Amino acid sequence: MDFSKELEAKVTSINERIYAFLPKEEGYQKTIFEAMRYSILAGGKRLRPMLMEETYKLFGGTGKIIEPFMAAIEMIHTYSLVHDDLPAMDNDEYRRGKKTTHKVYGEAMAILAGDALLNYAFETATLAFDIEPENKNTGRALRILAQKAGVYGMVGGQVVDVESEKTGTDITREKLDFIYRLKTSALIESSMMIGAVLAGADSDQIDIIEKTASKLGLAFQIQDDILDVTSTLEVLGKPIGSDEKNNKVTYVTFEGLDKASKDVETISKEAEKLLDSFEGDKEFLKGLFEYLIHREK
Ligand code: IPE
Ligand code: IPE
Ligand code: MG
Ligand code: MG
Ligand code: MG
Repeated sequence: MDFSKELEAKVTSINERIYAFLPKEEGYQKTIFEAMRYSILAGGKRLRPMLMEETYKLFGGTGKIIEPFMAAIEMIHTYSLVHDDLPAMDNDEYRRGKKTTHKVYGEAMAILAGDALLNYAFETATLAFDIEPENKNTGRALRILAQKAGVYGMVGGQVVDVESEKTGTDITREKLDFIYRLKTSALIESSMMIGAVLAGADSDQIDIIEKTASKLGLAFQIQDDILDVTSTLEVLGKPIGSDEKNNKVTYVTFEGLDKASKDVETISKEAEKLLDSFEGDKEFLKGLFEYLIHREK
């Protein structure tokens, strides 16, 4: 099968399995279930659950324990997008080719949908204890899920990202790297590390996976910044020029478009190289890394 067919098949399979974990749309609080579903439904690349499952398989994992964690990471990622788009943050009107959650359900419900997705992610992830009660690594995986999403992870990165809008050009390259490592790499590290942990990888292997994912996340965010300048709303599914509108200093404004593009390539190749220390079948994962560098959305 060629790469794009394989990718499409994996996205379809991931979507089916993620949707199965979503709560039923019933009860007095029905609106929150609708807003959660609206935010998560079709349009996302499902990169994080895909990286999680592929890493799980790389270390020999074959069970279903990974599935609640795959759903959980996509819920957390989606909540981060719902809140990132709010008027108080990036104030964007489109996401995944549709109106943003606050545009459809109002700000209060979008804040609650984000809260709900974050909390439901943990409710979902704990189902892993029932699937493999004997797996000793589930608690560790849960801790990674919590830490990488929190103040030492994604939330921490968003804090400095938002504060940096005010300081504008005063930002240093070191601080920019900090923002990217936390706001974007952390959830990608979480995805790959949880895959490795649940499959029983050892600590050295988990360390290398964390480094790999950190680099991949950096390349991924730089490419996101590039697309914010060079793409279109139709292709990207979210507004372009969002960073400029918010006076954000990005890798592109800091280093220029040419260097940014070169660095995406270099950093992603470094990530691919780190994978070479592992024995298993890495072909699809490497293809995925390549696809992400050259992606248009
Ligand atoms: C967008 O993530 C936010 C960033 C960290 C750049 P994705 O580009 O993975 O968004 P979806 O899930 O495909 O919509
Ligand atoms: C997103 O950074 C990081 C998150 C944690 C959501 P951006 O603000 O650049 O993401 P997009 O471009 O809105 O997807
Ligand atoms: Mg943002
Ligand atoms: Mg944004
Ligand atoms: Mg962006």
